[in-house]
Amino acid sequence: MSTDWPRVRLHVVTGKGGTGKSTVAAALALALASQHKSVLLCEVEGRQGIAQLFDVPPLPYAERKIAQGPEEGGDVYALAIDAESAMLEYLQLYYPLGGRAGKLLDRFGVVDFATTLAPGLRDVLLTGKVYEAVERNSRNRGARQYDAIVLDAPPTGRIAQFLNVNGEFGELAKVGAVKGQTQKVMSLLRSPRTAVHLVTVLEDMPVQETADGIDELRTAKLPVGGVIVNLTRPKELDEARDLARTGQLPRAEITAELAGAGIDVTDELVHGLLEEAKQHAERRELEDEQRERIAALDVPTYELPRLAEGIDLGGLYELAEDMREQGLA
Ligand SMILES: Nc1ncnc2c1ncn2[C@@H]1O[C@H](COP(=O)(O)OP(=O)(O)OP(=O)(O)O)[C@@H](O)[C@H]1O
Ligand SMILES: [Mg+2]
Repeated sequence: MSTDWPRVRLHVVTGKGGTGKSTVAAALALALASQHKSVLLCEVEGRQGIAQLFDVPPLPYAERKIAQGPEEGGDVYALAIDAESAMLEYLQLYYPLGGRAGKLLDRFGVVDFATTLAPGLRDVLLTGKVYEAVERNSRNRGARQYDAIVLDAPPTGRIAQFLNVNGEFGELAKVGAVKGQTQKVMSLLRSPRTAVHLVTVLEDMPVQETADGIDELRTAKLPVGGVIVNLTRPKELDEARDLARTGQLPRAEITAELAGAGIDVTDELVHGLLEEAKQHAERRELEDEQRERIAALDVPTYELPRLAEGIDLGGLYELAEDMREQGLA
C-alpha cells in the first residue's frame, strides 16, 4: 500500500468541533505506525482526549507509549503539550538552572505567568514543542526520534491563527530568540513536510467550515492536506432511492412480502416503513450534495464509516486500516 503523503512528517488534524478530530488523529497515528515506524501523537488543548481514546491514565508532559501499529507495527507514543510545561522546558534548555532552580522558577510563578500569556505567545510555545519533536535529531541525547508526528489540533475556526505563529503578538516577535524560533517553526509548518488535514461530516455547516478553513490556510501559505469525511453511513438503498424519496415504492408488494414472512401487517406498519425509507433516501440525497461540494474543493478526499459500536481501540484500528487502504497513510 502506498501513501499519498510520502514526504509529510507532521500531520496536523483539524476540523469543526465534534466531527471526530481526535478520533481521526489517533487512527492516523496507528495507521502511520505500520512496518516498524514510530509515531508521536500530540494534543494541545489540555483535554486529555488521547488518554480517553486509548483508555490510559491522563498523559503527563512526557512521551508515553500508548499503542502498537498494525502489520509489524512500530510504537505509537503520545504527549499532552501544555504551554506552562513547554515554557519551563524552554527556559531550562536555554537558561539551564538545574533542578532546584527549576523548582524556584516554578515557585516564583513562571507557571502562573504562563497561564496569563497572550494567546499568540501561548501558541508559539505549543507549536514550538511540536517543532522540537519533528526536528529532533540524534544530537539530542536520549531523545526519542519519530518517523511521523500527528497533531490533534485546535478546530478549523482557529487553525490558521494557531499555526501562523509569526505575526500575532507584535513587538515580542521582533526580539532575538523569539524571532529566530518563530521563523524556524514557520518554515517547517509552511514546508511540504507538513500537511493540514480537515475532518468533516456530510452536513452543510461542517462542509462550509472546511471550505472556509482551506481558504484561510491557503491565504496563510499553510499546506492543505486531505479532507477526511467522517461518520459516513452505509450506502444502502441505492437503486430504490428515488422511488423511496418520491413515495413510489410498491406498497402492495411490500405488504404481501411482509405478510408472507409471517408478519402481522397493518397499514400503520407499512406507512411507518415507507416513511423511514423516504427519510433515509432524503438524507442520502443531502449527503451526496455535500459530497459534490467537497469534491469541488479539489483536495484528496478520504471517507471513514460511522462505526455502529462507537469508538474503542478495535474501532481505531479499523479506521486506521481504512486510511491505509485509501492512501491517507
Ligand atoms: N467513525 C466514527 N464512528 C463512530 N463514532 C465516532 C466516529 N468518529 C468519531 N466518533 C465519535 O464522535 C464523538 C466525537 O469524536 P471526537 O471526540 O473524536 O471529535 P472531536 O472533533 O475531537 O471533538 P472536539 O471538538 O470536542 O475535540 C466521539 O464520541 C467519538 O467516539
Ligand atoms: Mg477532540
